Amino acid sequence: MEKEKLTYASYLKVPELLTLQKPLSSPVAHDELLFIITHQAYELWFKQVIFELEAIIQFIDKDSWTDCFHLFNRVNHIFKVMILQIDVLETMTAEDFNHFRSKLNPASGFQSGQFREFELLVGVNPEQYAPFMKLDPEWKDRIQTRARLSTLRSAFVAALTRHNLTAKTDPDSVRDAVVEIYRNRSRGELRTLCENLIQIDEQTWLWRFRHLQMVERMIGMKPGTGGSLGAGYLETTLKKRLFPELWDARTYMGGVDRPEYGSLRNKALTGLPSAPVKRKGTAKRS
Ligand code: HEM
Repeated sequence: MEKEKLTYASYLKVPELLTLQKPLSSPVAHDELLFIITHQAYELWFKQVIFELEAIIQFIDKDSWTDCFHLFNRVNHIFKVMILQIDVLETMTAEDFNHFRSKLNPASGFQSGQFREFELLVGVNPEQYAPFMKLDPEWKDRIQTRARLSTLRSAFVAALTRHNLTAKTDPDSVRDAVVEIYRNRSRGELRTLCENLIQIDEQTWLWRFRHLQMVERMIGMKPGTGGSLGAGYLETTLKKRLFPELWDARTYMGGVDRPEYGSLRNKALTGLPSAPVKRKGTAKRS
């Protein structure tokens, strides 16, 4: 039998994808489709971020820095898209949201298993996860398995040990190792690793912050459909840091002179060359 020719739609499963948006309101509230598609788009991005972080952990374990930073760059861009995506959902007004909000009860982003997987993969303490497992039993096994696997945090701490920066994992020892990485110029790759980790921490915080703003804009101080205080609860999550030692280290950092920047600095101080430099091939003005 002849193999069916691959098409755009069959490869990407477009027909199946387009059947997955099922508004619950009746008559259908206009903005419910936007609400569903936005959440589904997030779940797809979460899937990609988890996939990339799993690879990043393996690259850190092997000190494969070029591959590691290449994927961190990708994750960083995905986060920018995820943060910006909130603007699209904010084109919905609070009134329009209220047209279908009651239909969502008791479902909530609270139960996003992939968001919890992301937090676990980065290294948030698994002991905090018991309540979420009760919330969504379907995800219980997946989250329990994830909690046993290595994390971005454990890979980072293992790298510190491997590079003789510390054999301990307590916050003060990790912080001191980070200060040493920034002080010592020969630790270039580890410094870039620290910058990538603090970047992902910052992006997660920015997402949390934008999500909180959007929530207040939509429901004010009403409780959430997931049973929390709503904005009041989300405000408490802004205190979460994925890598607190990286932030703490800033308090202990000094300034290191970098001779490698010397020639550039000298150029900057002496100002522009006195005669304009002609570029090759620049067209003459008449
Ligand atoms: C109209 C838009 C939205 C509203 C009003 C809203 C509201 C809320 C509220 C009130 C909570 C706290 C838990 C609860 O329900 O009691 C929450 C949590 C959450 N929401 Fe949303 N949300 C919205 C859009 C989104 C979108 C687009 C996503 C993307 C996946 C999302 C993901 C989450 C996540 C992951 C949590 C858990 C946060 C944590 O526990 O740290 N939400 N949301």
